[in-house]
Amino acid sequence: MDEDFMFEKANIGDLNLDNSVWPRSTLNEEAIERYRDCLEELPPIVVDRETMTVLDGWHRVEAHRREGVETISVKYDSCAPHLFLARSYALNARHGLPVDNEERDQIVVDLRQGKDGYDPMGQEEIAKIMGISQGRVSQVITNLLGANIFVGDKPKVKEAIRLYLSGMSQEKVGGRFSVTQQTISSVVRDYSKRKDLISEHLRSRGHLKSVVRYSNRGPWGDAKFPGNTSGYLLVDLIDYYQPKSILDPMEGSGTTGDVAFDMGDIRYKGLDLLSGFDLVGDKPEGEYDLIFWHPPYHDAIDYDITHPNNLSRCPSLSDYLDKLKLCMAKLLDHLSREGHLCILCSDPRKDGSIQPIHSAVISFNLAILDAALVKLIEGRSRYFDYGNAPFIPIVHEYVLIFFNKRV
Ligand SMILES: C[S@@+](CC[C@H](N)C(=O)[O-])C[C@H]1O[C@@H](n2cnc3c(N)ncnc32)[C@H](O)[C@@H]1O
Repeated sequence: MDEDFMFEKANIGDLNLDNSVWPRSTLNEEAIERYRDCLEELPPIVVDRETMTVLDGWHRVEAHRREGVETISVKYDSCAPHLFLARSYALNARHGLPVDNEERDQIVVDLRQGKDGYDPMGQEEIAKIMGISQGRVSQVITNLLGANIFVGDKPKVKEAIRLYLSGMSQEKVGGRFSVTQQTISSVVRDYSKRKDLISEHLRSRGHLKSVVRYSNRGPWGDAKFPGNTSGYLLVDLIDYYQPKSILDPMEGSGTTGDVAFDMGDIRYKGLDLLSGFDLVGDKPEGEYDLIFWHPPYHDAIDYDITHPNNLSRCPSLSDYLDKLKLCMAKLLDHLSREGHLCILCSDPRKDGSIQPIHSAVISFNLAILDAALVKLIEGRSRYFDYGNAPFIPIVHEYVLIFFNKRV
């Protein structure tokens, strides 16, 4: 950045007043009126030479305009466009009209994270461009960015809630994870809300029957994960079977683990090809009372993982079913004596014909079927009209529940 400013006159009509690089939301009328009486005594505005973007002096420009004056004195500056807002903050924060601290904090976080494809900046560089101390930058990052990272880190959030439930104060828990007490308070609040949703669902649902329908998926797992399932199905299964331990060998976005935590921190193991576990080639460890298994529905949805045993990329239906059978036999080996294996599957349509997956799973004849639930699909599913068949769209899938008893 060029610190040797030059004073010149610029045409007001040539100036670029870009809202997105101005760290205030509105003009202050009182300041404009004050400036109109003393245009000659005002300091020059600061403008980026190449783009003529006004980095400091919006009120002065407006005062000149209202007085009908066509030119204004400027100091030229130059910096990269993605740093305009930071530079503008540094200049604006130095005079009489204060800039909102929230705006400042957001600029710091954006620069640290590298917004809009720019490289993330170091704390020292941010402090320099914004004209604030490195200590302040570090404090903002710890408070804001630290909170964002923490809230997105499920294992850490669960650990923090455990500590809070065991009697540790929110402040101390915050200290343990380097976040504020407010951040802990907000994750605890979300946890209580989710528990309320579970209680309300169980209160209003009535007995579990062989047809289930969930009007929404709830806040568990990730609604954007392709082929995610409703957390309420897990609520029902856990409530019904009361397992002490749960395995989900293809957990996807982690819906099962999230519900297991909210329903009493039930011991849970979640695996997936996405995190390096291949159910076809690897062996899960341990024994579980409930195994919830939600494999890809053959190639209805493509999970973009380069691996020969990616079940969404099997070369044929028969190859898919062979692998499914092998996986099912393996999972039955990890059920506790009274345990249940719940398989969520579907019969998608491809090229105009139904692929009979659920009946194939039953006819593997590996274990005794305890129940077969029909789960209605809400809204539009990706495989709803899979194979371009508008006639008799598929609006259900199956939950096949097997005992730990071999046939
Ligand atoms: C239908 S999704 C599970 C969605 C999950 N129930 C949820 O709510 O987010 C199927 C998952 O199977 C995983 N998968 C595919 N092949 C696998 C394999 N061989 N071993 C383990 N996971 C596999 C995919 O990565 C995908 O996450």
